[in-house]
Amino acid sequence: MKKFGVTVSGHIMDSQRLHPEATGDLTGLLNELIVAAKTISAEVNMAGLADILGMSGDINVQGEYVQKLDEFANTAIKRRMAHSGYVAIMASEEEADAVMVEDDCSPGRYTLAFDPLDGSSNIDVNVSVGTIFSIHRASNGCRPNETDLLQPGRRQVAAGYIIYGSSTMMVFSTGEGVHGFTLDPSVGEFYLSHPNIKMPGRSRYYSINEGNRKFWPPGVLAYIDYLQTTDKTSGRPYSGRYIGSLVADFHRNLIAGGIFLYPRDSRNPLKPTGKLRLLYEAAPLAFIAEQAGGRAITDDGRDILDIDPEALHQRVPLIIGCRHDVDIAEKFSRGEMQ
Ligand code: AHG
Ligand code: MN
Ligand code: MN
Repeated sequence: MKKFGVTVSGHIMDSQRLHPEATGDLTGLLNELIVAAKTISAEVNMAGLADILGMSGDINVQGEYVQKLDEFANTAIKRRMAHSGYVAIMASEEEADAVMVEDDCSPGRYTLAFDPLDGSSNIDVNVSVGTIFSIHRASNGCRPNETDLLQPGRRQVAAGYIIYGSSTMMVFSTGEGVHGFTLDPSVGEFYLSHPNIKMPGRSRYYSINEGNRKFWPPGVLAYIDYLQTTDKTSGRPYSGRYIGSLVADFHRNLIAGGIFLYPRDSRNPLKPTGKLRLLYEAAPLAFIAEQAGGRAITDDGRDILDIDPEALHQRVPLIIGCRHDVDIAEKFSRGEMQ
Protein backbone atom coordinates (compact mmCIF):
# COMPACT_ATOMS: atom_id res chain seq x y z
CA MET A 1 0.00 0.00 0.00
CA LYS A 2 3.11 2.17 0.08
CA LYS A 3 2.15 3.27 -3.44
CA PHE A 4 0.36 6.19 -1.78
CA GLY A 5 2.66 6.32 1.23
CA VAL A 6 0.16 8.43 3.17
CA THR A 7 -0.41 7.01 6.64
CA VAL A 8 -3.83 7.27 8.26
CA SER A 9 -2.43 9.61 10.93
CA GLY A 10 -0.88 11.78 8.21
CA HIS A 11 -4.22 11.88 6.40
CA ILE A 12 -6.06 12.87 9.61
CA MET A 13 -3.52 15.65 10.28
CA ASP A 14 -3.91 16.91 6.68
CA SER A 15 -7.68 17.16 7.11
CA GLN A 16 -7.28 18.81 10.53
CA ARG A 17 -5.11 21.51 8.91
CA LEU A 18 -8.09 22.43 6.72
CA HIS A 19 -9.91 23.47 9.92
CA PRO A 20 -7.94 26.18 11.77
CA GLU A 21 -10.55 26.12 14.56
CA ALA A 22 -9.78 22.44 15.24
CA THR A 23 -8.41 21.70 18.74
CA GLY A 24 -6.85 18.39 17.71
CA ASP A 25 -9.16 16.41 19.99
CA LEU A 26 -10.86 14.54 17.12
CA THR A 27 -7.42 13.76 15.70
CA GLY A 28 -6.37 12.46 19.10
CA LEU A 29 -9.52 10.36 19.46
CA LEU A 30 -9.09 8.80 16.02
CA ASN A 31 -5.43 8.06 16.73
CA GLU A 32 -6.36 6.27 19.97
CA LEU A 33 -8.96 4.28 18.00
CA ILE A 34 -6.23 3.33 15.50
CA VAL A 35 -4.07 1.95 18.31
CA ALA A 36 -7.03 -0.10 19.57
CA ALA A 37 -7.66 -1.33 16.01
CA LYS A 38 -4.07 -2.55 15.67
CA THR A 39 -4.33 -4.32 19.04
CA ILE A 40 -7.58 -6.05 18.05
CA SER A 41 -6.24 -6.93 14.59
CA ALA A 42 -3.22 -8.66 16.12
CA GLU A 43 -5.49 -10.63 18.48
CA VAL A 44 -8.02 -11.57 15.78
CA ASN A 45 -5.23 -12.78 13.50
CA MET A 46 -3.74 -14.83 16.35
CA ALA A 47 -7.13 -16.19 17.48
CA GLY A 48 -6.63 -19.53 15.79
CA LEU A 49 -3.40 -20.04 17.70
CA ALA A 50 -3.98 -18.47 21.07
CA ASP A 51 -6.56 -20.04 23.31
CA ILE A 52 -9.01 -17.24 22.67
CA LEU A 53 -11.57 -18.89 20.44
CA GLY A 54 -14.99 -19.81 21.64
CA MET A 55 -17.37 -18.48 24.19
CA SER A 56 -16.46 -16.55 27.28
CA GLY A 57 -19.51 -18.05 28.95
CA ASP A 58 -21.13 -14.65 29.46
CA ILE A 59 -24.40 -13.47 27.93
CA ASN A 60 -24.54 -9.77 26.93
CA VAL A 61 -27.36 -7.24 27.12
CA GLN A 62 -28.47 -8.41 23.66
CA GLY A 63 -29.07 -11.88 25.09
CA GLU A 64 -26.22 -13.17 22.92
CA TYR A 65 -23.32 -15.38 23.96
CA VAL A 66 -20.23 -13.18 24.22
CA GLN A 67 -17.23 -14.53 22.35
CA LYS A 68 -13.88 -14.02 24.07
CA LEU A 69 -12.69 -11.77 21.22
CA ASP A 70 -15.80 -9.59 21.69
CA GLU A 71 -14.69 -9.02 25.28
CA PHE A 72 -11.08 -8.45 24.28
CA ALA A 73 -12.07 -5.89 21.64
CA ASN A 74 -14.50 -4.17 24.00
CA THR A 75 -11.86 -3.86 26.72
CA ALA A 76 -9.19 -2.70 24.26
CA ILE A 77 -11.34 0.21 23.08
CA LYS A 78 -12.68 1.18 26.53
CA ARG A 79 -9.16 1.21 28.03
CA ARG A 80 -7.74 3.35 25.20
CA MET A 81 -10.55 5.88 25.49
CA ALA A 82 -11.04 5.98 29.26
CA HIS A 83 -8.10 8.28 30.01
CA SER A 84 -7.57 9.83 26.59
CA GLY A 85 -9.31 13.06 27.59
CA TYR A 86 -11.12 13.11 24.26
CA VAL A 87 -14.28 11.15 25.17
CA ALA A 88 -16.98 12.17 27.66
CA ILE A 89 -19.16 9.04 27.50
CA MET A 90 -19.33 5.80 25.50
CA ALA A 91 -21.86 3.20 24.37
CA SER A 92 -20.77 -0.32 23.49
CA GLU A 93 -22.77 -3.25 22.18
CA GLU A 94 -21.19 -5.25 25.01
CA GLU A 95 -22.19 -2.82 27.79
CA ALA A 96 -25.76 -2.67 29.09
CA ASP A 97 -25.38 0.97 30.17
CA ALA A 98 -23.47 4.00 28.96
CA VAL A 99 -19.81 3.93 30.03
CA MET A 100 -18.91 7.07 31.96
CA VAL A 101 -15.31 8.18 31.57
CA GLU A 102 -13.91 8.60 35.10
CA ASP A 103 -12.29 11.99 34.89
CA ASP A 104 -12.52 15.19 36.85
CA CYS A 105 -14.70 17.87 35.37
CA SER A 106 -12.73 18.09 32.19
CA PRO A 107 -14.62 15.49 30.18
CA GLY A 108 -13.76 14.98 26.56
CA ARG A 109 -15.62 16.81 23.87
CA TYR A 110 -16.85 13.71 22.04
CA THR A 111 -18.94 10.60 22.52
CA LEU A 112 -18.06 7.21 21.09
CA ALA A 113 -20.55 4.45 20.27
CA PHE A 114 -19.06 1.20 19.04
CA ASP A 115 -19.61 -2.42 18.14
CA PRO A 116 -16.29 -3.83 19.30
CA LEU A 117 -16.55 -6.93 17.17
CA ASP A 118 -19.24 -7.24 14.53
CA GLY A 119 -19.97 -10.64 13.01
CA SER A 120 -18.55 -12.38 16.07
CA SER A 121 -20.57 -15.53 15.43
CA ASN A 122 -18.14 -16.01 12.52
CA ILE A 123 -14.93 -15.79 14.57
CA ASP A 124 -14.48 -19.55 15.02
CA VAL A 125 -14.94 -20.23 11.32
CA ASN A 126 -12.37 -17.67 10.20
CA VAL A 127 -14.77 -15.34 8.39
CA SER A 128 -14.07 -11.59 8.30
CA VAL A 129 -15.24 -9.65 11.35
CA GLY A 130 -15.01 -5.94 12.14
CA THR A 131 -15.27 -3.03 14.55
CA ILE A 132 -17.78 -0.24 13.88
CA PHE A 133 -17.57 3.23 15.48
CA SER A 134 -19.61 6.42 15.61
CA ILE A 135 -18.45 9.78 17.02
CA HIS A 136 -20.68 12.69 18.09
CA ARG A 137 -19.96 15.97 19.89
CA ALA A 138 -20.81 15.79 23.60
CA SER A 139 -23.10 18.61 24.65
CA ASN A 140 -23.59 18.28 28.40
CA GLY A 141 -20.26 19.63 29.62
CA CYS A 142 -19.29 18.34 33.04
CA ARG A 143 -22.33 16.18 33.34
CA PRO A 144 -22.20 13.89 30.30
CA ASN A 145 -25.18 11.55 30.12
CA GLU A 146 -27.03 9.24 27.74
CA THR A 147 -28.56 12.14 25.82
CA ASP A 148 -25.05 12.92 24.53
CA LEU A 149 -25.16 9.50 22.86
CA LEU A 150 -28.79 9.57 21.67
CA GLN A 151 -28.26 11.89 18.70
CA PRO A 152 -29.48 11.38 15.10
CA GLY A 153 -26.88 9.90 12.79
CA ARG A 154 -26.83 13.00 10.59
CA ARG A 155 -25.03 14.83 13.43
CA GLN A 156 -22.10 12.39 13.49
CA VAL A 157 -18.70 14.08 13.44
CA ALA A 158 -17.00 10.91 12.19
CA ALA A 159 -17.86 7.26 11.66
CA GLY A 160 -16.27 4.18 10.20
CA TYR A 161 -15.18 0.61 10.64
CA ILE A 162 -12.12 -1.62 10.73
CA ILE A 163 -12.52 -4.92 8.87
CA TYR A 164 -10.28 -7.81 9.95
CA GLY A 165 -10.28 -9.79 6.73
CA SER A 166 -7.73 -11.03 4.19
CA SER A 167 -6.10 -7.74 5.15
CA THR A 168 -7.02 -5.33 7.94
CA MET A 169 -8.58 -2.16 6.55
CA MET A 170 -9.82 1.00 8.24
CA VAL A 171 -12.56 2.83 6.33
CA PHE A 172 -13.93 6.08 7.77
CA SER A 173 -15.26 9.55 7.07
CA THR A 174 -15.10 12.84 8.96
CA GLY A 175 -17.69 14.30 6.60
CA GLU A 176 -15.25 14.95 3.75
CA GLY A 177 -15.59 11.76 1.74
CA VAL A 178 -14.74 8.14 2.57
CA HIS A 179 -11.15 6.92 2.64
CA GLY A 180 -9.75 3.42 3.08
CA PHE A 181 -6.44 2.51 4.71
CA THR A 182 -4.81 -0.91 4.67
CA LEU A 183 -2.64 -2.13 7.55
CA ASP A 184 0.90 -3.16 6.66
CA PRO A 185 1.49 -5.51 9.60
CA SER A 186 5.25 -5.56 8.96
CA VAL A 187 5.38 -1.83 9.69
CA GLY A 188 2.32 -1.53 11.95
CA GLU A 189 0.98 1.35 9.88
CA PHE A 190 -2.28 1.90 8.00
CA TYR A 191 -1.53 3.29 4.51
CA LEU A 192 -3.99 5.10 2.23
CA SER A 193 -5.08 2.40 -0.23
CA HIS A 194 -8.60 3.53 -1.25
CA PRO A 195 -8.77 7.36 -1.52
CA ASN A 196 -12.23 8.93 -1.85
CA ILE A 197 -14.31 5.75 -2.12
CA LYS A 198 -17.57 6.14 -4.08
CA MET A 199 -20.25 3.43 -4.15
CA PRO A 200 -20.77 2.23 -7.75
CA GLY A 201 -23.97 3.62 -9.29
CA ARG A 202 -25.32 0.15 -9.93
CA SER A 203 -25.33 -2.93 -7.73
CA ARG A 204 -24.38 -6.43 -8.73
CA TYR A 205 -25.07 -8.06 -5.37
CA TYR A 206 -27.94 -8.23 -2.95
CA SER A 207 -27.30 -9.37 0.60
CA ILE A 208 -30.03 -10.74 2.87
CA ASN A 209 -30.53 -13.78 5.10
CA GLU A 210 -32.86 -15.80 2.83
CA GLY A 211 -33.59 -18.10 5.77
CA ASN A 212 -35.90 -15.41 7.13
CA ARG A 213 -37.89 -15.12 3.87
CA LYS A 214 -41.18 -16.28 5.38
CA PHE A 215 -41.02 -13.49 7.95
CA TRP A 216 -40.14 -10.48 5.75
CA PRO A 217 -42.53 -7.54 5.30
CA PRO A 218 -44.41 -7.78 1.94
CA GLY A 219 -42.45 -4.88 0.38
CA VAL A 220 -39.12 -6.64 1.03
CA LEU A 221 -40.45 -9.94 -0.33
CA ALA A 222 -41.62 -8.22 -3.53
CA TYR A 223 -38.29 -6.38 -3.86
CA ILE A 224 -36.20 -9.56 -3.54
CA ASP A 225 -38.46 -11.31 -6.09
CA TYR A 226 -37.86 -8.28 -8.38
CA LEU A 227 -34.06 -8.63 -7.98
CA GLN A 228 -34.31 -12.34 -8.82
CA THR A 229 -36.32 -11.69 -12.02
CA THR A 230 -34.37 -11.75 -15.29
CA ASP A 231 -34.15 -8.39 -17.01
CA LYS A 232 -30.89 -7.86 -18.88
CA THR A 233 -31.36 -4.08 -19.26
CA SER A 234 -31.31 -3.63 -15.48
CA GLY A 235 -28.65 -6.27 -14.83
CA ARG A 236 -31.07 -8.62 -13.11
CA PRO A 237 -30.99 -11.21 -11.61
CA TYR A 238 -28.48 -9.86 -9.10
CA SER A 239 -26.10 -12.31 -7.45
CA GLY A 240 -26.81 -13.20 -3.85
CA ARG A 241 -23.94 -12.75 -1.39
CA TYR A 242 -24.48 -13.07 2.39
CA ILE A 243 -21.53 -13.41 4.74
CA GLY A 244 -23.38 -12.83 8.01
CA SER A 245 -20.88 -10.18 9.13
CA LEU A 246 -22.46 -6.78 8.55
CA VAL A 247 -19.07 -5.09 8.14
CA ALA A 248 -17.95 -7.64 5.52
CA ASP A 249 -21.26 -7.52 3.61
CA PHE A 250 -21.27 -3.71 3.72
CA HIS A 251 -17.61 -3.40 2.67
CA ARG A 252 -18.14 -5.63 -0.39
CA ASN A 253 -21.15 -3.53 -1.42
CA LEU A 254 -19.24 -0.28 -0.85
CA ILE A 255 -16.39 -1.36 -3.12
CA ALA A 256 -18.11 -3.58 -5.71
CA GLY A 257 -21.68 -2.26 -5.57
CA GLY A 258 -24.59 -3.88 -3.78
CA ILE A 259 -27.53 -3.57 -1.44
CA PHE A 260 -27.80 -5.11 2.04
CA LEU A 261 -31.09 -5.72 3.81
CA TYR A 262 -31.86 -6.80 7.36
CA PRO A 263 -35.61 -6.15 7.60
CA ARG A 264 -37.92 -6.56 10.58
CA ASP A 265 -38.89 -10.12 11.34
CA SER A 266 -42.58 -10.86 11.99
CA ARG A 267 -41.60 -14.05 13.84
CA ASN A 268 -39.52 -12.46 16.57
CA PRO A 269 -41.61 -10.30 18.92
CA LEU A 270 -38.39 -9.52 20.85
CA LYS A 271 -36.99 -7.85 17.75
CA PRO A 272 -40.02 -6.27 16.06
CA THR A 273 -37.72 -3.72 14.48
CA GLY A 274 -35.06 -6.02 13.05
CA LYS A 275 -31.81 -7.24 14.55
CA LEU A 276 -29.27 -4.51 13.86
CA ARG A 277 -28.60 -1.69 16.30
CA LEU A 278 -29.03 1.97 15.34
CA LEU A 279 -26.30 3.70 17.36
CA TYR A 280 -23.30 1.53 16.52
CA GLU A 281 -24.23 -0.44 13.40
CA ALA A 282 -26.86 1.27 11.20
CA ALA A 283 -26.08 4.97 11.82
CA PRO A 284 -22.28 4.84 11.33
CA LEU A 285 -22.60 2.72 8.18
CA ALA A 286 -25.38 4.99 6.91
CA PHE A 287 -23.01 7.96 7.37
CA ILE A 288 -20.34 6.15 5.33
CA ALA A 289 -22.87 5.08 2.69
CA GLU A 290 -24.13 8.66 2.18
CA GLN A 291 -20.60 10.09 2.12
CA ALA A 292 -19.82 7.52 -0.60
CA GLY A 293 -22.92 8.43 -2.66
CA GLY A 294 -25.19 5.66 -1.34
CA ARG A 295 -28.22 5.65 0.98
CA ALA A 296 -29.63 3.90 4.06
CA ILE A 297 -33.31 3.58 5.01
CA THR A 298 -35.58 1.44 7.18
CA ASP A 299 -37.91 -1.12 5.56
CA ASP A 300 -40.75 1.41 5.79
CA GLY A 301 -38.78 4.10 3.96
CA ARG A 302 -37.45 6.26 6.83
CA ASP A 303 -33.94 7.70 6.43
CA ILE A 304 -31.62 6.03 8.97
CA LEU A 305 -29.65 9.24 9.57
CA ASP A 306 -32.79 11.15 10.57
CA ILE A 307 -34.00 8.73 13.24
CA ASP A 308 -33.93 10.20 16.76
CA PRO A 309 -32.56 7.39 18.96
CA GLU A 310 -34.59 6.59 22.10
CA ALA A 311 -32.37 3.89 23.63
CA LEU A 312 -28.70 2.88 23.49
CA HIS A 313 -29.38 -0.56 22.03
CA GLN A 314 -32.36 0.39 19.88
CA ARG A 315 -32.75 -1.88 16.85
CA VAL A 316 -33.79 -0.77 13.38
CA PRO A 317 -34.58 -2.54 10.13
CA LEU A 318 -31.80 -1.66 7.68
CA ILE A 319 -31.64 -1.35 3.89
CA ILE A 320 -28.29 0.14 2.83
CA GLY A 321 -26.30 0.33 -0.40
CA CYS A 322 -26.08 1.99 -3.82
CA ARG A 323 -28.43 4.96 -4.08
CA HIS A 324 -30.24 3.72 -7.23
CA ASP A 325 -31.03 0.38 -5.59
CA VAL A 326 -32.10 1.79 -2.23
CA ASP A 327 -34.40 4.21 -4.11
CA ILE A 328 -36.09 1.21 -5.79
CA ALA A 329 -36.25 -0.76 -2.52
CA GLU A 330 -37.89 2.31 -0.95
CA LYS A 331 -40.60 2.26 -3.67
CA PHE A 332 -41.29 -1.41 -2.95
CA SER A 333 -41.39 -0.74 0.81
CA ARG A 334 -43.98 2.02 0.19
CA GLY A 335 -46.02 -0.19 -2.16
CA GLU A 336 -45.25 2.18 -5.09
CA MET A 337 -43.72 -0.75 -7.03
CA GLN A 338 -44.97 -4.33 -6.92
P1 AHG B 1 -22.68 -8.85 16.15
O1 AHG B 1 -21.72 -9.96 15.91
O2 AHG B 1 -22.01 -7.54 16.47
O3 AHG B 1 -23.75 -9.22 17.16
O4 AHG B 1 -23.45 -8.55 14.77
C1 AHG B 1 -23.97 -9.61 14.07
C2 AHG B 1 -24.95 -9.08 13.08
C3 AHG B 1 -24.31 -8.57 11.80
O5 AHG B 1 -22.92 -8.63 11.80
C4 AHG B 1 -24.84 -9.47 10.72
O6 AHG B 1 -25.24 -8.74 9.61
C5 AHG B 1 -26.05 -10.12 11.37
O7 AHG B 1 -25.79 -10.17 12.75
C6 AHG B 1 -26.26 -11.52 10.89
O8 AHG B 1 -27.47 -11.95 11.49
P2 AHG B 1 -28.11 -13.37 11.04
O9 AHG B 1 -27.14 -14.41 11.50
O10 AHG B 1 -29.43 -13.39 11.76
O11 AHG B 1 -28.27 -13.32 9.55
MN1 MN C 1 -22.65 -6.13 15.08
MN1 MN D 1 -20.68 -7.17 18.02
